[in-house]
Amino acid sequence: MSGSKVSGSVNFTEENGETTSLPLVSGSVGPQVIDIRKLYAQTGHFTYDPGFTSTASCDSAITYIDGDEGVLMHRGYKIEELASESDFMDVCYLLLKGELPNAEEKDKFTHDITYHTMVHEQLIQLFRGFRRDAHPMAIMVGVVGALSAFYHDSTDITDAHQRMVASYRLIAKMPTIAAMAYKYSVGQPFIYPKNDLSYAENFLHMTFSVPAENYKMSPTIARAMDRIFILHADHEQNASTSTVRLAGSSGANPFACIAAGIACLWGPAHGGANEAVLAMLEEIGTVDRVQEFIAKAKDKSDPFRLMGFGHRVYKNYDPRAKVMAETCHEVLEELGMKDEPMLKLAMELERIALEDEYFIEKKLFPNVDFYSGIILKALGFPTSMFTVLFAVARTVGWVAQWNEMMEDPGQKIGRPRQLYTGPAERPFVPLNKR
Ligand code: CMC
Repeated sequence: MSGSKVSGSVNFTEENGETTSLPLVSGSVGPQVIDIRKLYAQTGHFTYDPGFTSTASCDSAITYIDGDEGVLMHRGYKIEELASESDFMDVCYLLLKGELPNAEEKDKFTHDITYHTMVHEQLIQLFRGFRRDAHPMAIMVGVVGALSAFYHDSTDITDAHQRMVASYRLIAKMPTIAAMAYKYSVGQPFIYPKNDLSYAENFLHMTFSVPAENYKMSPTIARAMDRIFILHADHEQNASTSTVRLAGSSGANPFACIAAGIACLWGPAHGGANEAVLAMLEEIGTVDRVQEFIAKAKDKSDPFRLMGFGHRVYKNYDPRAKVMAETCHEVLEELGMKDEPMLKLAMELERIALEDEYFIEKKLFPNVDFYSGIILKALGFPTSMFTVLFAVARTVGWVAQWNEMMEDPGQKIGRPRQLYTGPAERPFVPLNKR
């Protein structure tokens, strides 16, 4: 465990009187952890923690979250500052390399990413194999996984240079693939990337330009897109990042690992929530129905949950949600949509939920996805593209975490154990006796 130190021990005594001592380990900030790696060898017991609510699966120097205080930092920099002072290329460099780039480093990094944005022309055949009504996340899982069949020269995971080339390729090509998935679904021609545009501008261009007319770029909109990418770039060991690490721990190539992460992100409890928020706001429809839906969310016999509320780690305001709410207002102002009824509905829902005893007691606050759907809808994205945008932004987090794991000399295949509850050994029953 690099960067950590043993800072004490925890003893526990079993019913038979045997005492076991386990090391307590400190990182740089945050709670200490009990190192249970030798627990089974010492006691013959495993720990039981479905959902990993009390388990650190790795040590990492990339992202820190204090869920009680509502703090999110990448490499020590607070997300609010990164969102207001930097751009997505700065954040990508920071996540991948550990430090903010100087001017020269940033130019080179931006150039390198820009010159990897095109995809192999033959990938177009793969797109054409999908039905037009395929969900773009289904296309993303398939196409990103298929990159391993196109870029053989960056799949040797033992070679640090190839790992970095694969990382750059993934960060660079994701917006191109995402825009292609969109274009395919609406029956428009694919638009090639343009090297004189920034990462966010390029994505907007490839999504919304058509051969007959270029998308009219607004600096406010491009900045909002960039900020959405920053806010979703990494979030320590969330479900999709853990999936990427687990897939990577077996030695699978990076394109396959990121495809696994995209599959996990798709679920409504994770990245699919922004799509679900908009569906929920559409279902609620008007401000006078908010109370009815709050009551549904509180009713234990009703599976309905307020989408965009609650978080496994944040038991305070999600710091990303604050920036997202500000960006939402800026975008709607720029587009002349500040009286958008859906924004009013979202604000009213937030206000009522934050005053409600149920939400206060369970510490359920709006998360990053609560306002992102409204922004993305205003920008012209269909709801099916929302999670795709999350995947574009999170790719840098996935590859940074994957690289960190690959560089760890102590890295092992991830292989959890279980509490078996099936039948004990019993004799086989021949077919004619069943
Ligand atoms: N609406 C109503 N009740 C809720 C909600 C909600 N959105 N979220 C949690 N609860 C209740 C839940 O019923 C439970 O009550 P009880 O203790 O009485 O059984 C309690 O709060 C704790 O919930 P939990 O499901 O045990 O908590 P969790 O940490 O396993 O789940 C979560 C976290 C994000 C999956 C959950 O809050 C949720 O389903 N939220 C809605 C989906 C959502 O917005 N997801 C986006 C997360 S942020 C983006 C990302 O990181 O991907």
